[in-house]
Amino acid sequence: MRIILYTGKGGVGKTSLSAATALRCAELGYRTVVVSTDPAHSLGDSFDMRIGNELKLLAPNLWGQEIDLLHQMDKYWGRVQSYLNVIFAWRGMDALVAEETSVLPGMEELASLMQITHLAESGEYDVIVIDAAPTGSTLQLLSFPEMARWYIEKIFPFQRKTIQIARPVMKAFSDMPLPGDDVFESIEDLVVVLERTSKLLGDSSVSSMRLVLNPEKMVIKEAQRAYTYLNLYGYAVDAVICNRIFPTELTGGYFDQWTAAQQKNLEFVEEAFQPLPIFRVPMFSQEVMGQEMLRMTAATVFGEALVRGGAGDPTQTFYHGKPQKVYQENGQYVLSLALPMVTKEEVKLHRSVVDELIIHIGNWKRNISLPTGLARLEIAGAKYEGDRLNILFAADDVPAPTPQELQSTRWDTLKARLRGA
Ligand SMILES: Nc1ncnc2c1ncn2[C@@H]1O[C@H](COP(=O)(O)OP(=O)(O)OP(=O)(O)O)[C@@H](O)[C@H]1O
Ligand SMILES: [Mg+2]
Repeated sequence: MRIILYTGKGGVGKTSLSAATALRCAELGYRTVVVSTDPAHSLGDSFDMRIGNELKLLAPNLWGQEIDLLHQMDKYWGRVQSYLNVIFAWRGMDALVAEETSVLPGMEELASLMQITHLAESGEYDVIVIDAAPTGSTLQLLSFPEMARWYIEKIFPFQRKTIQIARPVMKAFSDMPLPGDDVFESIEDLVVVLERTSKLLGDSSVSSMRLVLNPEKMVIKEAQRAYTYLNLYGYAVDAVICNRIFPTELTGGYFDQWTAAQQKNLEFVEEAFQPLPIFRVPMFSQEVMGQEMLRMTAATVFGEALVRGGAGDPTQTFYHGKPQKVYQENGQYVLSLALPMVTKEEVKLHRSVVDELIIHIGNWKRNISLPTGLARLEIAGAKYEGDRLNILFAADDVPAPTPQELQSTRWDTLKARLRGA
């Protein structure tokens, strides 16, 4: 199973490329679904068909869906929301405000993620192509599982066991509504889904992010930032698609300056994003609409050949990089993070009291939850090597972590707490 996600600045060609990729995959015989998570859906326009919130057959082997966020939210969030309503109301918020507030920021993201996970786990598709919203929203989408975990840990610091024991006493002193078993169960459900989603999208053998850009300075800048942040969050980028390149035949006249500037920017893109492969797509003489144009677009990007598992197959992984890895070196443990396109000075790193590393780059930050095996070690240093930030952990005075401990994460800890284990 493969998940391919296209992101980039507004209007660069994400939807066109998602549609072209999906059609090509379907024609190679993969059971393919293409979903749009951008609330401003235009996937239907690319296929010149109406697509709605339900899965729709667009061509043999090809289904499409434009995710309707409100509809998805009702489906997945009802139980948790009713608990939050009670808590907020107890804090003195009136019912109406509570109702509004309990639609926490990011709930739309959650709904999309749940649907993607549902499709991935249904076993009915070989390929899921995601036509994502412009960069900022997509980063929000992809950072949501971890952010939600962090919040759940903070607003929900209860041990299920402790509550069960303390309930009668607490009842006598306070009218704070204590979460019941049903609440623990729904939060646990949610955490389980978030963890699965985060693993699915973070697994580079399943999911590849592709950056779409046009050879224009501002667009490239945004793609560079997206590349850094995707890596920061541990998502593997395997290609860049440079779309809308003016053909060089357009010489003599108005477009001369544009084509010259584009050529220069193209060279810059090649240099900046290496070793990622860069696929070039010209500005066509018409819009990318309807199957014929989509087929042609796919042929330009992936080649004319139609070999399943070989040439012309968009499901290939075009670049094998590991955004995040843990290994042992000279008696120390190394957490290695790919952070391309930033300088050492732009990265701020600190460790919180608990087993987290906090990394700030620009406006984005990630709370990296350390594997339990690393969390109890001291940080011995950090250094920039190539495009990677390597954080060293010393295991001098403590027993060395076991391989399981190097895998185990805070998701496991949180689940155990909610389960009352
Ligand atoms: N290579 C191309 N040649 C000609 N037209 C193109 C090309 N790529 C995209 N287009 C057209 O440009 C417009 C914008 O493309 P598209 O909708 O795919 O971009 P997008 O990144 O999804 O935009 P948004 O951010 O609004 O979702 C569409 O009308 C599309 O048909
Ligand atoms: Mg679009």
